[in-house]
Amino acid sequence: MTIDLQSLIFSKLSDESDVSSFLCSDSEDLRDFLQNAAKTGQHEKISITYLVYSGPCLVGFFSLSMGCITSKDVPKKTLEIEDPPNKFPALLLARMATTDGMRSQGIGREMLKRVFNIAFDLTEQIGCRFVKVDAKKDPRTVSFYKKNGGFIQIHENSDTVQMIVDLNKIPSE
Ligand SMILES: CC(C)(COP(=O)(O)OP(=O)(O)OC[C@H]1O[C@@H](n2cnc3c(N)ncnc32)[C@H](O)[C@@H]1OP(=O)(O)O)[C@@H](O)C(=O)NCCC(=O)NCCS
Repeated sequence: MTIDLQSLIFSKLSDESDVSSFLCSDSEDLRDFLQNAAKTGQHEKISITYLVYSGPCLVGFFSLSMGCITSKDVPKKTLEIEDPPNKFPALLLARMATTDGMRSQGIGREMLKRVFNIAFDLTEQIGCRFVKVDAKKDPRTVSFYKKNGGFIQIHENSDTVQMIVDLNKIPSE
């Protein structure tokens, strides 16, 4: 199925949302989260999940939470702050996936644009300097975040790569 990116619809997960069609064979834990934990996470104010539709088809989702980054993890040259705080407030992109068969058509890029819009809206209300993601340790995923959001890598664990982007370094729309 070819996707018309202009007609993607974003909506917040609700109790009535039917997410049973979502497939993520690359990462079963992402499918499992969406189908079995996202609604509870939302009720518990741990994460908010956004669904992306192309017509009636659920094609993607992402989940956001509050996060923070310690200053020592931020490369000095990327910060132009004389006296930085010990920790920086960040929006955590906790999960994101495009359903099987729909990848590499730009849905992920559109989801990231929406994440940045939400982050910039937040900055009008509360301090939020970075967007942070614990990316799957897969070169395609890491390059996706570098290419589409200007994320930089700050840490590497056994199965994830921690990446951040400074909201002061990207133009708001
Ligand atoms: C990463 C992901 C959300 C990107 O969504 P998308 O709709 O494919 O994104 P776009 O079409 O805007 O960008 C495509 C790029 O994503 C990356 N990508 C494509 N398929 C991918 C896959 N199966 N796994 C990881 N990254 C992938 C590639 O860099 C690709 O670039 P290319 O088309 O030039 O090869 C999506 O590929 C996905 O759901 N992957 C599996 C789950 C995952 O890794 N989620 C991220 C967890 S941090």
